[in-house]
Amino acid sequence: MAASDARLTGAGLTLAYDRRTVASGLDVAIPDGSFTVIVGPNACGKSTLLRALARILKPAAGTIVLDGEPIAGWPAKRLARTLGLLPQSSIAPEGITVADLVARGRYPHQGLLRQWSREDERVVRESMAATGVADLADRTVDELSGGQRQRVWIAMALAQETPILLLDEPTTYLDIAHQMEVLDLCARLHEEGRTIVAVLHDLNHAARYATHMIAMRRGSVVAEGAPGDVVTAGLVERVFGLPCTVIPCPETGSPLVVPSARGRTAVPG
Ligand SMILES: Nc1ncnc2c1ncn2[C@@H]1O[C@H](COP(=O)(O)OP(=O)(O)OP(=O)(O)O)[C@@H](O)[C@H]1O
Ligand SMILES: [Mg+2]
Repeated sequence: MAASDARLTGAGLTLAYDRRTVASGLDVAIPDGSFTVIVGPNACGKSTLLRALARILKPAAGTIVLDGEPIAGWPAKRLARTLGLLPQSSIAPEGITVADLVARGRYPHQGLLRQWSREDERVVRESMAATGVADLADRTVDELSGGQRQRVWIAMALAQETPILLLDEPTTYLDIAHQMEVLDLCARLHEEGRTIVAVLHDLNHAARYATHMIAMRRGSVVAEGAPGDVVTAGLVERVFGLPCTVIPCPETGSPLVVPSARGRTAVPG
C-alpha cells in the first residue's frame, strides 16, 4: 500500500520497555477509512503497537506520523480529538458511575470557555445506547459484570467521537451475541467514515469484519492485506503453529478457520 493512502503510519519503529525490546524495524500503515484488524499470538506486540500509535508509549526509534505530522509534536487535546484508544485493560476510578465514566470521553472537547453542553449530554447518551449500557447509567462501574464493564469502556471511547479509533480486544469478556453487536457497531462506525483499528484474537471475526488485516509475529508484520489473502491455512500454521483447514463461511463467504482435530493433519488446500 502506498504511504499516501494511510493517515496513520509508523516507520522504522523500535518498541521497547526498559530493557525488553518488543519490536525493531517495524513498519506499519493503517489505510485511511479502513477497518483494520491486527492478529497475532499472545505477547507478539499487538498492544504495544497500539499504545505506540496512540502515543502512550514513546518509540525508542522511528517515527509515527498522523495526518502528515509526527505524532510526537501533536498537542494533547488535538490528538485526543483525532484518535481514541480502548486499552486492553483499564481500571475505573473507585465508586465512579457508568454515566460519569462515559462522560470522561468528552474531556478533549471541553475547553476553558466551553463547559459541559447539551451536545456532550447527547453524545454520552447515544454512546451508552449504542453499547447497550443505558440502563446501567447510574450503577457504579465496580459492581458490573466483566462484559458490562467492557461495554462501558467502549462507550467511553465512542463518546470521544474521534475519526480514528484504536480498540484493543474490544470483544473480550463478551458473550457471543454481544461480541457480534460490538463488531457490528464497529462496522457501522467504519461505514460512517471512521478509521477503525482493532486487535482481535478470533480469526473468523477478523476475516468477517476487516477490510484490511495485519498479522504479527514476534514484533514483526508477517502478512497484510485483504482477509482472503491473509487468512490462509499456511499463514495460520506459520503464525500460530496451528494446523487447520480454511473453508468459506457459509454465511458471508469470508475465510473460516477450522482447527484440525487432535492427531490429524490439516487437509491440504
Ligand atoms: N509494561 C511492560 N513492561 C515490560 N514488558 C512489557 C510490558 N507490557 C508488555 N510487555 C512485554 O512486551 C511483549 C509484548 O506485549 P504485548 O502486550 O504488546 O503483547 P500482545 O501481542 O498484545 O499480547 P496479548 O495477545 O497477550 O494481549 C511481551 O513479551 C510482554 O511481556
Ligand atoms: Mg494485548
